[in-house]
Amino acid sequence: MTIRTFTKADREILREITSVCYDGVSIDQNIEKLFSIIAGKDWIYRKQKHLEEDIAVYPEGIFIGEIENKAVGYISTRVDSDTRIGRIVNFAVLPACQKKGIGAHLMDHAMTHLKNKGMEYVRIETLEQNAAGRHFYPKIGFREVARQIHYIKKVTK
Ligand SMILES: CC(C)(COP(=O)(O)OP(=O)(O)OC[C@H]1O[C@@H](n2cnc3c(N)ncnc32)[C@H](O)[C@@H]1OP(=O)(O)O)[C@@H](O)C(=O)NCCC(=O)NCCS
Repeated sequence: MTIRTFTKADREILREITSVCYDGVSIDQNIEKLFSIIAGKDWIYRKQKHLEEDIAVYPEGIFIGEIENKAVGYISTRVDSDTRIGRIVNFAVLPACQKKGIGAHLMDHAMTHLKNKGMEYVRIETLEQNAAGRHFYPKIGFREVARQIHYIKKVTK
């Protein structure tokens, strides 16, 4: 497996990886299960929008994991040189390639990037329903600092 920085040509495959991987671990999908499709936009549309933000805001902090020149996963980051707290934003490996250490390699790469950019700490969030995140992040040294509850309500006339 090799890791390289995102280029504009990766956009479509990252959109695809996002839609496949976040099935079961997406707040937007939870919303859709409760309220169905909203404004003609499904959860995948909204989750891909999140990726588009990464691409728009900090493309040089997105890293692609490749096997035989095919992208199988990615990790996106943000830096804040003021607070020196960086972030991991999106992180996904195709199901057929999971549990083989690819995610751990991507995470190492992202952490090195954030360190090189002067970050002193790195934040990441995961859902209670996300078994991989809840296992992996504490294992590599992330400390839990808070739990948040997400609510949604239909706007009434
Ligand atoms: C999170 C994700 C990127 C990890 O990728 P990966 O290539 O499987 O990661 P690795 O193989 O390096 O595994 C890292 C650790 O997580 C564990 N892990 C992976 N999938 C797991 C799962 N479904 N349940 C519990 N632990 C899991 C691995 O066993 C490993 O821990 P170990 O070293 O103690 O064995 C991948 O599971 C994924 O794409 N998930 C869906 C999207 C997602 O949840 N993204 C993160 C949002 S916070």
